[in-house]
Amino acid sequence: MGHAFQFEPVTLPAPVATANREIRTPIPHPDDREIVEILRRCEPRSMSGQPLVVWDHAEGVHVFDRHGNKWLDFSSGVLVTNAGHGRPEAAAALAEVVQRPLHHTYCFPNRERADLVAYLVDRCAPDYLDKVFLLTTGSEAIECAIKIARAHAHPKGGPEKDVIVTFHGDFHGRTLGAQMAGGIPALKDWIVHHDPCMVNAPIPDGFRGRDTSFDGFLKALADRGVEPSRIAGVCLETYQGGTALLLPLDYMRRLREFCDQNEALLVFDEVQAGFGRCGKMWGFEHYEVRADMIVCGKGISSGLPLSAVIGHSDWMDHFPPGSMTSTHTGNPVCCAAALANIKAIVEGGLIDNAARLERVLAARMAHFEKKYPARVGRAAAIGLVGAVQMVPEAGSLDPDHDTAFAIVKHAVERGLMLFGPVGTGGGTVKLCPPLCIDESQLTEGLDVLEEAFDAVCG
Ligand SMILES: Cc1ncc(COP(=O)(O)O)c(C=O)c1O
Repeated sequence: MGHAFQFEPVTLPAPVATANREIRTPIPHPDDREIVEILRRCEPRSMSGQPLVVWDHAEGVHVFDRHGNKWLDFSSGVLVTNAGHGRPEAAAALAEVVQRPLHHTYCFPNRERADLVAYLVDRCAPDYLDKVFLLTTGSEAIECAIKIARAHAHPKGGPEKDVIVTFHGDFHGRTLGAQMAGGIPALKDWIVHHDPCMVNAPIPDGFRGRDTSFDGFLKALADRGVEPSRIAGVCLETYQGGTALLLPLDYMRRLREFCDQNEALLVFDEVQAGFGRCGKMWGFEHYEVRADMIVCGKGISSGLPLSAVIGHSDWMDHFPPGSMTSTHTGNPVCCAAALANIKAIVEGGLIDNAARLERVLAARMAHFEKKYPARVGRAAAIGLVGAVQMVPEAGSLDPDHDTAFAIVKHAVERGLMLFGPVGTGGGTVKLCPPLCIDESQLTEGLDVLEEAFDAVCG
C-alpha cells in the first residue's frame, strides 16, 4: 500500500485554461524540485504520499502554485476546508487575535474559547448534548472519547467493563490508542501487543461486509467471548473513508438499543463526516439515532489544528479539574478561526448546498459503476463526499492501489486537485470539494475525473 509521487514533470500537449483550472507549465513544476528535495531529505518517507504540487495560496475552491497554475480542489486538504479555502471572515478573525497579540493561554480562560464552545453547544450539538472539550487533532479526540467511555463505565461495572468495540476497516487516527481502535490490520502490525479489550466487529456496509444484519455484531462479540455487559463504548466512523457508504438504518437502530441496554456509550467518529460534509450538520443524523459522544476535527476550523469531543455532562464531567486538559486546548487563534468558519458553514447555507449537490455527485458515482464494471468495485456519495473503490477485476474486493494512483496523478496534471489514494489498501479515489462549490464547478471536476478514468482504465 502507498506509493511515493516521483518528481517527473509532465507536459500536456495543450495548456488547460478554464475559469476553474489553468495548467500552463509542466507538473510538477521543475522549479519546485528543490523544495521537494528538501522535504524528501528531511522528512520521513511517509510524507511522500501526495501529488507534488507546491501550494502557494488557496481561495474558495481553488488552489494555486507560484507559477500561475490553478487547480479546482476536490481534496479540501483531506476534508478540512469545508467552508472553503482562506475564508476572509476567518482570516480577519485570526489576524485580530494574532495582532492583539494573544497567541496562547494554555487552559487559562480566553474569550475566543468561550465564544466557540458556546456556539458549538448552542448551535451545532444536538440539544441532548451539553458539553464540549476542545483538543488539537482527531486522533487525540478519539483517544479522549475512549478514556471518557471507559472511565464512565468503571463505576457501573468495575474495571471489567472496559471493552471498546470498533469496526473492521474503520480509521480513527495514527496515535497508539487511535490506531489500536482502528480496524485496518496493516496499519497496526507495529503495535504487537494489542489491547485485548479493543474488539473489532464486522462492518455491515453491504460491500466488504456482506452481512448487514445486527446478528453479525452479536456473533463477533460471542466469538471473542465478550459479554455485552462488559462493553464500555462502541465507536464507529459515520461512513468509512474508503467507501462513503452509509450503514443500514435498522442495524443502527439495533445498535443504539444494544448500547442503551448494556449501558455502553455510542460514539460517532465525525472527524470526516461532520460540519456539513454529509449534507447535514452531523453525518450520523442520517441514522436517526442519538449519539452519546461526537468526535470531530478537520472541518471544525477549515484549516487550523483543532478537534473536539462533544457529549453529555453525565460523562464529560467525569474527570476532576486538571485531569483532562491538553496544552493547546482552546488555543485562541484556532478558536477565532474556527468560529468564523463554522458560522460560514451554518449561516452561509453550505450544509444545504452539500445536500442539494449530492444528487450530482451520486449520479456520477452510479455512472462510474456502470461504465467501468470490471474496475470499480463500488462508487458512492453522501452529501459532498464521494469514494470510488478501484478493484483489479469484476467481483473482487481487493483494492487496486496502482490504478487509483494513476487516476489521481492524471487528474492532478490536468488541474483537478485530488489527494493520494486512501482506504483499506489505498485503492480509493476520494472526492471531497469544499462545501461552497457550485454545480457547474462540481460537474467540471467530475468531467476531468471521467477523462482520467477513461485514460487509465480504457
Ligand atoms: C474518521 C477519522 N478519524 C480520525 C482521524 C484522525 O484525525 P487526525 O489526523 O487529525 O489525528 C481521521 C483523519 O484522517 C479520520 O478520517
